[in-house]
Amino acid sequence: MTVIAEKNPHIKVSVVDMNQARIDAWNDENLDNLPIFEPGLAELVKNNRNKNLFFSTEVDEAIRTADIIFISVNTPTKTYGRGKGMAADLKYIELCARQIARVAQTDKIIVEKSTLPVRTAQALKSILDHTGNGVQFQILSNPEFLAEGTAIADLLHPDRVLIGGEESPEGREAIQTLSDVYGSWVPSDKILTTNVWSSELSKLTANAFLAQRVSSINSISELCEVTGANVDEVARAIGMDSRIGPKFLKASVGFGGSCFQKDILNLVYIARSYGLEAVADYWEQVILMNDHQKSRFANTIISNLYNTVSGKKITFLGWAFKKDTNDTRESAAIYVADALMNEHAEITVYDPKVRPEQIYADLDYLNSRSPEDNRRLLRVVESPMEACADSHAVCILTEWEEFKTYDWEAIYHAVVKPASVFDGRNILDSKKMNAIGFQYRGIGS
Ligand SMILES: NC(=O)c1ccc[n+]([C@@H]2O[C@H](COP(=O)([O-])OP(=O)(O)OC[C@H]3O[C@@H](n4cnc5c(N)ncnc54)[C@H](O)[C@@H]3O)[C@@H](O)[C@H]2O)c1
Repeated sequence: MTVIAEKNPHIKVSVVDMNQARIDAWNDENLDNLPIFEPGLAELVKNNRNKNLFFSTEVDEAIRTADIIFISVNTPTKTYGRGKGMAADLKYIELCARQIARVAQTDKIIVEKSTLPVRTAQALKSILDHTGNGVQFQILSNPEFLAEGTAIADLLHPDRVLIGGEESPEGREAIQTLSDVYGSWVPSDKILTTNVWSSELSKLTANAFLAQRVSSINSISELCEVTGANVDEVARAIGMDSRIGPKFLKASVGFGGSCFQKDILNLVYIARSYGLEAVADYWEQVILMNDHQKSRFANTIISNLYNTVSGKKITFLGWAFKKDTNDTRESAAIYVADALMNEHAEITVYDPKVRPEQIYADLDYLNSRSPEDNRRLLRVVESPMEACADSHAVCILTEWEEFKTYDWEAIYHAVVKPASVFDGRNILDSKKMNAIGFQYRGIGS
């Protein structure tokens, strides 16, 4: 919405959320306190806030005055009832639709910006069309393809903008209205229009394909480790094939983030609900491989520390699910830490952007042990050197650039010998690390 406001000074953009603390943070004078860290975001918020970009909790007022409403609420995996652990929980979407239906007095375009199961627009339409007050709604699907960490660049220069709408004169008119908003900065050949169902399904499919590439290369990383091949070399070799391409071929401790797992589980659930067992099994394997990679990384640490980590200090550099974001949802670090804490390891975490409260909240959410035990077994510190001192193993969980530039000689002198580094992101130079004296283990070599 900030980028839309930046590129459309003539459009008033109101971001409304019922979470007062979040809205207060978006309005905070100190831009370091914005709820989301993304390179370039704070500057854009500063440029546009209180000009044509507003943050508030006045949801009803915003609905009443809007011509276009982007529904962007969370669609987490269900934690209860039918489809528990698989299906998307659509209660927040439905609540939005009901609120819009109750409040709206003029015709509106409703844009599905949240990632939704295919055919959700039908449910939205049914709720909105039963208001009985004559207001007309057009529902568009406009899934978001930005990646966290590069969100602003992705939004400024999108590969494509996808808009799905009804194939009727009103539907086409709504598609045109939304296309014009993006048309302020996105070339028209990159604005792709489809029917609603294709658009909804494209988002789930895009995330499934991306995650599948990560699981594919991770599966090869395990094979590399037992055969003496090197997964980075294999990735380079196959990535030069123009049919395969070089992106998303980095072996790692596993993918995280709020979207990949949730969206694939949702795809699997939809396939099963249509009785397509082979399709569902195929995509489920992407998740199983990712879980395997995380537990394999924890097991490698344990077995290399003489099969016991009890009472040993283990350092985590990085907690965010990827670099350049403070988002920790489904981060591999959470699950690796949990496995090591089950073995009574004492973990010290340093992450340049993630706050201690978030790290403890992530662990408490797993419910593996009491909050007191989580705080006893895991410490969060503010300097990498403090994190590494007297450590039995330094583990890289996030590919933050700054980790590459650390004084690894100094770290070597500060840790317990034999000095071990477990690089879950393959970002450090193995030859250099070995030359310093570390026993360096990356993924897939
Ligand atoms: N995070 C991403 O990178 C990304 C990328 C593409 C798509 N998506 C999709 O976007 C959606 C939102 O993701 P997110 O990461 O921003 O989630 P989030 O949980 O960070 O934010 C959702 C917000 O919606 C608010 N909310 C919920 N119900 C509301 C209501 N009835 N009225 C007002 N506010 C309400 C919540 O308070 C919360 O602040 C999801 O469907 C996700 O799959 C996210």
